Amino acid sequence: KNILNVIVSALHRLEYRGYDSAGLAFINQQGSLSAIKTTGKISNLELCLKQNTTDIPQENKSLGIGHTRWATHGEPTQANAHPHLSQDKRFAVVHNGIIDNYTAIKDRLIKKGYKFLSDTDTEVIAHLIQECYEGDLRAAVAASVEQLTGTYGIAVISSEHPDTIIAARKGSPIVAGICQNETIIASDVSAIINHTKQVVFLNDGDILTATPEGLDITSVGNIPVTRELTHINWDMNQIEKEGYDHFMLKEIHEQPSSLQNTLRGRLLPDEGSTKLSGTRLTHEEMTGIDRVIIAACGTSYYAGMVGKYLFEDIAGIPTDIQQAAEFRYRNPIIEKNTCMLAISQSGETADTLAAVKEGMSKKATVLSICNVVGSSIARETNRGVYLHAGPEISVASTKAFSCQVAVLAMLAIAFGRTRRLSPDAGRRMVAELATLPEIAEKVIAQSDNIKAIAEKYAKAGNFFYIGRGYMFPAALEGALKLKEISYIHAEGYHAAELKHGPIALLDSSLPVIAAAADVSSKDKTLANIKECKARKAPVIAITTEGDTSISRHCDDTIFVPECPDFLSPIPVVIAEQLFAYYTAKWRGCPIDQPRNLAKSVTVE
Ligand code: M6R
Repeated sequence: KNILNVIVSALHRLEYRGYDSAGLAFINQQGSLSAIKTTGKISNLELCLKQNTTDIPQENKSLGIGHTRWATHGEPTQANAHPHLSQDKRFAVVHNGIIDNYTAIKDRLIKKGYKFLSDTDTEVIAHLIQECYEGDLRAAVAASVEQLTGTYGIAVISSEHPDTIIAARKGSPIVAGICQNETIIASDVSAIINHTKQVVFLNDGDILTATPEGLDITSVGNIPVTRELTHINWDMNQIEKEGYDHFMLKEIHEQPSSLQNTLRGRLLPDEGSTKLSGTRLTHEEMTGIDRVIIAACGTSYYAGMVGKYLFEDIAGIPTDIQQAAEFRYRNPIIEKNTCMLAISQSGETADTLAAVKEGMSKKATVLSICNVVGSSIARETNRGVYLHAGPEISVASTKAFSCQVAVLAMLAIAFGRTRRLSPDAGRRMVAELATLPEIAEKVIAQSDNIKAIAEKYAKAGNFFYIGRGYMFPAALEGALKLKEISYIHAEGYHAAELKHGPIALLDSSLPVIAAAADVSSKDKTLANIKECKARKAPVIAITTEGDTSISRHCDDTIFVPECPDFLSPIPVVIAEQLFAYYTAKWRGCPIDQPRNLAKSVTVE
């Protein structure tokens, strides 16, 4: 195989994660290492490859590494792009994560005469490997990573070992795909799914040696370890656009089926309860839990906010929702009998992973709610619930939100049934949960209307999103969606908070989206809508089908199907996703890969 084509096509599959430069390294015709790097798109890298044909290896010299970078240390320049080479050019490394102590290592290496060509933290790894190398590449990598603090998922090649790739991980994912007579290593299954569905995930502290003879995994201290083979149960089709203009639109449209998959086999209609086997919670554990802490980031955080309301309303358990980044550094109080829920679509978000570790070290019962099977958070907790929403490629999270809320509702019902939730109420809720795919379908059927409204307001420079109760997290999520893909400044506010300050901004140029599809707070939200109208702000309501009590006070209305309050954020957020999508499309934004954003935020 032409290894460079294999690497470039794998990098293409990671394009969705967001990046600003790319590069690859390989053993050239002369048997030494070459690196080709460039800023911008992978297509730029392909262009560079075409212009550098002299170096390119013959077929069958099949070994190389590649990388797409999302700048943390140093600007997105060619020099800062990976791979980085050691001073003697015998070792090349690609790295995800952040080396916290790189400055100290860099200073020490500079004193020893090493010259640095980049501003990155990664370059220290290449030089360290050179410094530690005494003929054994694995040992040199092990001795180098022992000196690092921070996070890394690395792959290393050397001109001294033209048939070996070494990979190591701590905090950043590494997966090895097992193929016939070859091994392909990546940070994400989607990069290698076209080669194999049999994969092995490394654990923190693992070092993998890949040679033509196969794989060998040891600890840093060179103790052999065994990691089980995982079969990936999704395929290439699921990471293709299938006729949609953007992955985001495809993923919005997938929600009826992804919700179906999330619910499948987990509802117990007769018992009025739910079954989430992956939590491995015993009845004693469930009844013993007297507090829930939810930690997450971004969209998952807003799903977690809905989770707080669900747990308190349905199960009667006091629940806190915390930003994972805050949780990890606040020395949080975790009492006995606390259950912690870590929510993450990717399962790789660095702050959420750190929050999980904090929760585990304080002896909470930690469960994860992840979409990506085998992800770091899922494996760290070793118990939890998978969304089964299928791969989410668009940087803007969509189907993950609705499925996360569905999982949280199922968990709240299961906990509720061990305490105050009656069998009848449980049965009603389970039946209502089962209608979610249909509800999602009906919102998507409103696309044309939502598109027309989005285009009417697409020139606005600012938006407010307001809501109360279950509609409050929905308002926050709607604002996040709009700002990340359309680059319009949008603020999510509790509808009642508006008059405590932000209302000063309202005038005819500032549209307000009022989420008012729940029964319990609709009337109060209507009062807030009137306050906005009195300041001449255009108001777009999201309310239930046929509710003229709201629509007649608003400039435009998006109707969503009626559903119980505890599920109401799902249809409202789907409507907001479509609104953000059509706004961004009208403005000509790069919807699937918004500027500055990465799909998996694996750095703090
Ligand atoms: O993979 P995670 O759910 O942990 O990701 C958390 C956030 O980074 C993510 O939700 C982000 O806010 C999305 N871009 C929102 O659309």
